[in-house]
Amino acid sequence: VIKACVIGHPLSHSLSPLIHNHWFQTYGIEGIYKAMPVPPEQLLPTIEILRQNYNGFNVTLPFKRTLIPLCQTLGSTAQIIAAVNTVTVGQDGSFHGRNTDTYGFAQNLQQKFPNFDWRKGSALILGAGGAARAIAYALKEKGVAKIYISNRTSSHAAALSAQFSLENLKWDSRENFPADLNLLINTTSLGMKGQPPLDLDLSSLPSSTTVYDIVYAPLITPMLQAAQTRGNPIVTGIGMLLHQAVPAFEVWTGVRPEVTPELETILLQAMP
Ligand SMILES: NC(=O)c1ccc[n+]([C@@H]2O[C@H](COP(=O)([O-])OP(=O)(O)OC[C@H]3O[C@@H](n4cnc5c(N)ncnc54)[C@H](OP(=O)(O)O)[C@@H]3O)[C@@H](O)[C@H]2O)c1
Repeated sequence: VIKACVIGHPLSHSLSPLIHNHWFQTYGIEGIYKAMPVPPEQLLPTIEILRQNYNGFNVTLPFKRTLIPLCQTLGSTAQIIAAVNTVTVGQDGSFHGRNTDTYGFAQNLQQKFPNFDWRKGSALILGAGGAARAIAYALKEKGVAKIYISNRTSSHAAALSAQFSLENLKWDSRENFPADLNLLINTTSLGMKGQPPLDLDLSSLPSSTTVYDIVYAPLITPMLQAAQTRGNPIVTGIGMLLHQAVPAFEVWTGVRPEVTPELETILLQAMP
């Protein structure tokens, strides 16, 4: 029996168990995936239990960085963005840490728009937290020539700009969209249920710019609604969550699972 889980704190509405348990069932694999809320002071004893009894686990806030020095080996993406979201436990109890958020972000867009040309123009990232770091690296990997970043706290954006050679756009000037903008991405938590909407006037946005929100609750955020109304192509965030789970399931089971519309519907129905 394959045993896996997600650790984080708080973990009240994690959708990861639904995703992985659906795949265990679909592919006829004997396995169980649980949500394991772990208060920070319990992290070290908990991961010793995981080392003894689990094949692997996912890692979410606030532990994505904490896990870096606890892994014996790291994949290159985890190393570059200094965050781990997937751990495989070896036969000898060693941890191999990976980051699959970068993959999940890009794969979601490519599944929706297979002909999307990453190199066609510039991209603008709103936000400079953990998700923005994974996305900045994804855009670099895809060959986006010019990447702008805009964040409320400019020092957070500056740290990302220094690592990935991004262009800073002041938060107050975030609506001065570059004329060649190919992709606009919200990575802030604004627009999420219980949070204020992202205050963003899209009237000067080129009509061909693809608008991507990684916030997925609600599925259509106010920013996506505004983009849809003016005819811009849009990408929702639920697929990023689904696609980042694919490489994790594959390394634990040897089976590469498929992200299907049926699974997306199951998730949307389970959303708080
Ligand atoms: N679809 C997916 O699979 C997926 C994956 C990861 C994350 N997410 C979502 O992405 C969002 C960000 O996650 P994260 O891990 O990057 O979080 P994080 O590290 O805490 O970063 C939060 C970001 O939001 C900004 N922000 C928060 N409140 C703001 C406000 N009132 N005004 C302006 N900016 C504000 C922060 O700006 P400051 O730097 O100024 O504080 C920071 O840039 C969350 O909603 C999360 O659920 C989705």
